[in-house]
Amino acid sequence: MSHMTLDTGTSRANPTPSPMKRLTVPAIRNRKGKDPIVMLTAYTTRMAQLLDPHCDVLLVGDSLGQVIYGLPSTLPVTLDMMIAHGAAVVRGSYHSVVIVDMPFGSYEASPEQAFHSASRVMAETGAAGVKMEGGETLAPTVEFLTRRGIPVMGHVGLTPQAVNALGGYGARGRSNAEHAQILDDARAIADAGAFGVVAEGVVETLANEITAAVSVPVIGIGASSQCDGQVLVTEDMLGMFERTPRFVKRFDDLAGRISAAVETYATEVRSRAFPGAEQVYAARD
Ligand code: KIV
Repeated sequence: MSHMTLDTGTSRANPTPSPMKRLTVPAIRNRKGKDPIVMLTAYTTRMAQLLDPHCDVLLVGDSLGQVIYGLPSTLPVTLDMMIAHGAAVVRGSYHSVVIVDMPFGSYEASPEQAFHSASRVMAETGAAGVKMEGGETLAPTVEFLTRRGIPVMGHVGLTPQAVNALGGYGARGRSNAEHAQILDDARAIADAGAFGVVAEGVVETLANEITAAVSVPVIGIGASSQCDGQVLVTEDMLGMFERTPRFVKRFDDLAGRISAAVETYATEVRSRAFPGAEQVYAARD
């Protein structure tokens, strides 16, 4: 069943939007060296609605494994999870380009496996493209998909799906060899036809070199302000978690504000101050 055809028109979570023109993948690709691209993660319809007017790209990241499902890493995230959340974000957005992460195990085996998985994402979510982690080894897959009409965003540097091989989530590109490999990875992915590349957790000088070296937009996360755009996990930048990576700036303290609101609710329930006269129904006369 296609998630796009669900009729949620009567839902308060999905009011009729005012008409808005959605950005396209070519429009994002053309932003190379121009106005910085604003990208955030979104996993739900309501969050997509709130972020959409301010963003150029909404990423349905496989970080939803940790953020939404409390999993220890992104590795257990499934294609079905990504498709369900991708469809929810498309339903809640009218302006941003929606990109869905390909989860671990759904694309690495072969270009054909990747096409099979990515075509499900495209058909069942309505997203504009997919994102995949990997460098030179993944380039033939990126080319296979882009030649068949599936826009691909690359992801190099700190690639969380490879946490076991990398030995952790530390910044990358500090040794000369690693620096050179990550630069080659970004070049290979861009040359293979990716419309953009996320550079995560790389030293600033390397992020700047990648941005100068490739002809498509480079979106930084823990990288450099000189990248062509920035992305963060929305719940991190909103202050939903006590522990965040060093590169996260907390633009709010949502966790603190939620705690305070819920504490007030609990107090009012216990004292019977809630519900008050405005929240109860009067009997008919
Ligand atoms: O999964 C994700 O949210 C990501 C971003 C952090 C780039 O890949």
